[in-house]
Amino acid sequence: MSENAPTYQGPERVFSGIQPTGNVHLGNYLGAIKRFVAMQHDYECLYCMVDMHAITVFQDPAELARHTRELAAMFIASGLDPDKNILFNQSKVSGHAELAWIFNCVARMGWLNRMTQFKDKAGKHRENASVGLFAYPNLMAADILLYKATHVPIGDDQKQHLELSRDIAQKFNNDYGSLRPGAEHFFPLPEPLIGAEAARIRSLRDGTKKMSKSEISDMTRINLKDDDELIAKKFKKARTDAEPLPGELAGLKDRPEADNLVEIYATLADISKEQVLKDYAGQGFGAFKPALADLAVAQLGPIRNRFNELMTDTAAIDKVLEQGAARARTIADPIIKEVRDLVGFV
Ligand code: TYM
Repeated sequence: MSENAPTYQGPERVFSGIQPTGNVHLGNYLGAIKRFVAMQHDYECLYCMVDMHAITVFQDPAELARHTRELAAMFIASGLDPDKNILFNQSKVSGHAELAWIFNCVARMGWLNRMTQFKDKAGKHRENASVGLFAYPNLMAADILLYKATHVPIGDDQKQHLELSRDIAQKFNNDYGSLRPGAEHFFPLPEPLIGAEAARIRSLRDGTKKMSKSEISDMTRINLKDDDELIAKKFKKARTDAEPLPGELAGLKDRPEADNLVEIYATLADISKEQVLKDYAGQGFGAFKPALADLAVAQLGPIRNRFNELMTDTAAIDKVLEQGAARARTIADPIIKEVRDLVGFV
């Protein structure tokens, strides 16, 4: 816990969340879920379907419910053990909304005005964006700090939000904690854990854009629900250049599409990009793409099959989520009680 010690004295705890908005893709898997799975043996982990974040942009209610169950099934199918980890939906633990309100009163307008994701998502129609979309990062800070989580595995696109969470924690500690001896370090300053590789998996059609759920063309991403044939087809059609693969990393400079495919290969195979280049130096994409497709199918196929099995029993998924929410509340309740007390709510 390098940075927080010796100021913050609480236990190490991991929190992360994914929006249940459908189309869970390879970027989510390599940048987040695969890493969640790897962390489950070393930390107490909470993994959340952030349905309250999802509705900052209108969601059809039936679809939201379906996507929430699907995301939970995808977590389990990817290897997250629901007994070991706390899997739950955000809306089932009321402390998220309560702490988010308090943080709405701690965070400054200027801080939120700097958030690039809001600018991207609101686009030209800023006046028409929901207030929730603007205040989104405050709810994210509440998600993390409601459990006093110390570590947050995320992709690169969430880094700025994490920095804001740290600023909110620090300001809350200064404003309220410093009034009570011993509470100066009430909240930890959560540390982002961003993978050295797969921090930003890019679109298969444009290596300068990130792979995204909201991109209109489905050919830009590999969805975890795609069947084997579709995965192979998407890699085959992925945009590349005419050069063969280089022998060294420097040879990928200014070749964003080639770099992205090498990065995907490396992260799927758990090897370095250097190693991939050693193995494929001099080969064209005609040879590399089928190898990449085979690797992806070998890893994603069993996850998809398990996911399909799990989705035949949604009552069992609901039970996992219900039990997860109950476990989450046992951690959150004493923390939110202390927060109320510090703020002066009697
Ligand atoms: P979301 O749902 O957009 O994405 C979920 C996770 O996947 C990562 N990710 C990627 N990683 C690599 N390459 C990509 N192309 C790619 N696209 C997405 C994201 O960085 C994220 O880790 N605001 C968050 C959800 C959230 C949250 C939280 C996360 C709400 N509360 C508290 C951590 C802690 C989001 O919209 O993620």
